[in-house]
Amino acid sequence: MSSSPNATPDRVFIFDTTLRDGEQSPGASMNTAEKLEIARQLVRLGVDVIEAGFPISSPGDFESVRRIAAEVGEAAVVCALSRAIPADIERAAEALAGAARPRIHTGIGVSESHLRDKLRISGEQAIERAVAAVKLARSHVDDVEFYAEDAGRAEPEFLYRMIEAAIGAGATVVNIPDTTGYAYPEVFGDLIRGLMEHVHGIEDVIVSVHCHNDLGMATANALAGVKAGARQIECTINGLGERAGNTAMEEVVMALKMRPDVFGVDSGINTKEFVRASRLVSSITGILVQPNKAIVGANAFAHSSGIHQDGVLKERSTYEIIDPADVGAGGSSIVLTARSGRAALRHRLAELGYAMEDAEFERVHEAFLELADKKKEVYDEDLEALVGETERMIGEVYHLEQVHVSCGDPGIPTATVELITQDGAHLIDSSHGNGPVDAVYKAINRIVDAPNDLTEFSVQSVTRGIDAVGEVTIRVKGEDGRTFTGRGAHPDIIVSSAKAYVNALNRLLLAAEAPGPPAEV
Ligand code: KIV
Ligand code: ZN
Repeated sequence: MSSSPNATPDRVFIFDTTLRDGEQSPGASMNTAEKLEIARQLVRLGVDVIEAGFPISSPGDFESVRRIAAEVGEAAVVCALSRAIPADIERAAEALAGAARPRIHTGIGVSESHLRDKLRISGEQAIERAVAAVKLARSHVDDVEFYAEDAGRAEPEFLYRMIEAAIGAGATVVNIPDTTGYAYPEVFGDLIRGLMEHVHGIEDVIVSVHCHNDLGMATANALAGVKAGARQIECTINGLGERAGNTAMEEVVMALKMRPDVFGVDSGINTKEFVRASRLVSSITGILVQPNKAIVGANAFAHSSGIHQDGVLKERSTYEIIDPADVGAGGSSIVLTARSGRAALRHRLAELGYAMEDAEFERVHEAFLELADKKKEVYDEDLEALVGETERMIGEVYHLEQVHVSCGDPGIPTATVELITQDGAHLIDSSHGNGPVDAVYKAINRIVDAPNDLTEFSVQSVTRGIDAVGEVTIRVKGEDGRTFTGRGAHPDIIVSSAKAYVNALNRLLLAAEAPGPPAEV
């Protein structure tokens, strides 16, 4: 019995090829340990098929397929690529020997260009080779996917014959790749529709689409294929892949999810894992994600224009079709620029803990506009400078007087802190923790009664050299869901961390007494 997922009319299978086609991106090669880490994340995403590599291409690829097959178990089909060449297929089968749900992916070129200029064989010879390859693969595994390379530029009549022959030989999945990214949605949809109408036996197999992005249409083409009846999409995280890349998984899956009215089908993907997957793949391959990349780019949920900011602050959906939480992104962000309006400025100031009267706000707004004209982006620290750190900043409820830590390996990280209250009381407490910062934060928590969740912690050096001043920025979320930023700078980053935390807690405590962010029209 085939271990291939069973197609239902309203379910699209997600075939991830980050580890095979994605790795073909120049500079993206990964070692086995890195591929295993990505495979684990693909399982968390819930992909149906993981194309783990091309075993004959190198001993490293063989080993990666073997290890991933062993690790993934029943969680997904593990697929290995091969050309329609017996040695390739034997090697793929060997690498998949330990897989619970193995699939061999084999195929041959079908366009005139590939037959004439690359393979230098006739169409009939190509069909013979395809049939022999599928049969050989089926002698090893029950699940065989056949790819018709460069189908996007093939003669449809020839493609029909080739696909029918592959199904007759035992293929369980037929892959229609637009290898060169030449197709456009209407034409690619028609090609899939033509296959559904003309190929005998097509209703018994899963039709897959594998699109490249040379004209920026990989996602649109894959979706057009789904509309025409395809039920498997081949894709990669961040759209990695040969040349301009492949269909991006996050794009195609979110399109299906956001537009049930158009597609009426869904994937089983846990979309909340997308940002994590994107960051993991980017950090392992060293290929950065462009900030304006759909779904996972740094700007995907950032609002810069004043009109948009005002809308989003009133109701997120005015300018956001996707809830950032649904893809695992932190949340919407408001970027303060010269185009930002008063609502956005007021909101950010309130977040920073500045509750101000109208007259004072007007003065800050004027100064903000002047600064924003000179700078591209106005950051929180700029705002703090504008408001005037000493005279206008909300006073301290607690002042950090001293912090002392002891840590090492072996050793138990321990911290003692002394805070001074507004009425001059000196409060001292100690704690241990997982590390020195954790110990400091726990010691502070023993003195300050302000329940919160630490949602962000970052350290950055603000001067150069070994004696650099390290600035720690943190965000804490209070019990009422409001978020407060805290900052601290010091050459000792443990002290910076302590300062940042006390700073955030002061804001949280003062805001609890002050009214919430004003709603501005
Ligand atoms: O783009 C392509 O045609 C491929 C095949 C090997 C499936 O990657
Ligand atoms: Zn490809």
